[in-house]
This record gives sequence, structure tokens and C-alpha cells, in this order.
Amino acid sequence: MNQVSPAALPGSAIVEPATWRDLNSLRNLEKVCFPLDVWPLWDMVGVLTFPGVVRLKATRDGELAGFIAADIRRSENTAWISTLGVLPAFRRQGLATTLLRACEAQLQVPRIRLSVRASNLAALRLYSQFGYKQQGIWSEYYSDGEDAWVLEKAL
Ligand SMILES: CC(C)(COP(=O)(O)OP(=O)(O)OC[C@H]1O[C@@H](n2cnc3c(N)ncnc32)[C@H](O)[C@@H]1OP(=O)(O)O)[C@@H](O)C(=O)NCCC(=O)NCCS
Repeated sequence: MNQVSPAALPGSAIVEPATWRDLNSLRNLEKVCFPLDVWPLWDMVGVLTFPGVVRLKATRDGELAGFIAADIRRSENTAWISTLGVLPAFRRQGLATTLLRACEAQLQVPRIRLSVRASNLAALRLYSQFGYKQQGIWSEYYSDGEDAWVLEKAL
């Protein structure tokens, strides 16, 4: 389930499965990409090691540039994208698009969901381009009181 052939991307980036060896790089990426919502260390260990998780990284010259993970919940016939981040130096180069496409291709479930800050226009545009629609709102979901939009896509 978590296998993907390393694929060359524009600008010589590579997308491939992430492993526990990426923990330190992932901690840095999450801190930079989600300064208000940094995961506890245990969540990062979990996303890199737990079964039933699709975890893909984009690297350039061996350095982590982007990361996506999705939990497959078979009992709900749903996968949840738990994180998608690209370091600022690598943005607007199609890395998130490539990571999301590769992740979706591995999710053999009827629907995918995720939550995103209501003000995150970059992410909302990205997901809209992929066909995600607003399915609900989690009021004051984030620690600073911002609402989360729950998005859903039927596969
Ligand atoms: C959102 C994020 C993952 C996009 O990564 P990226 O690699 O720059 O995205 P892509 O280059 O694949 O862009 C795909 C589309 O997303 C949208 N998009 C990306 N960045 C955008 C921005 N700054 N403003 C407006 N739209 C944007 C555009 O529609 C873009 O298509 P286009 O370039 O043809 O206009 C990245 O900005 C990021 O890591 N942000 C911080 C973390 C975050 O918000 N993650 C999502 C939480 S669910």
C-alpha cells in the first residue's frame, strides 16, 4: 500500500515513501509549514511508522522539500489527509500537486476528507482544483479559535 516508484519531478525533485529516518527533517518542515499547529513529537513518529498510513515525501538533492500523509480508515470507508506541507523555497513549483496526486492514487477508498484553516486560501485553491468540496465546518477547531473547513472528495 505504501509503495510508490521514485518518480522524477520538475526541477529534479523525487517523490517516494517516507520512513522513520525522515523524522528530523519532518519536524523541521512541520514547524515551518504549520507554526501555529505544530504536532507533538509522538504524532510525527506515528505518521512515519503506524500501519494504514500513506506517507510520501518530495526531496530535492536529498533534502526534504514536501510531505503528505493520509490515514486510511476502512471502517469509515474514508481516508483522512492529516498533513500536506511544502517548504517555502519549493512552493509554486507543483510539488503539492504531485504529492497529492501520488497520495490519492494509493488511497483505495470511496472518499477522502481533510480539515484546513478557513483562511488558508492557498490550500483551499489547491484542493478545489483537485475536486474537493466543503462538507462541513468545525467551529473554533484550532487552538487560536479559527474554524476548520472539512473538505471531501469522492474517488
Ligand atoms: C498549500 C501548499 C501545500 C501548496 O504547496 P505548493 O507546492 O506551493 O503547491 P503547488 O505548486 O502544487 O500549487 C498548486 C495550486 O495550489 C494553489 N496555490 C498554491 N499556493 C498558492 C498561493 N500562495 N496562493 C494562491 N494559490 C496557491 C494554486 O491554485 C496552485 O496552482 P497554480 O500554481 O496553477 O496557480 C503550501 O503553500 C504549504 O505548504 N503551505 C503551508 C502548509 C499548508 O497550508 N498546508 C495545507 C494544509 S491542509
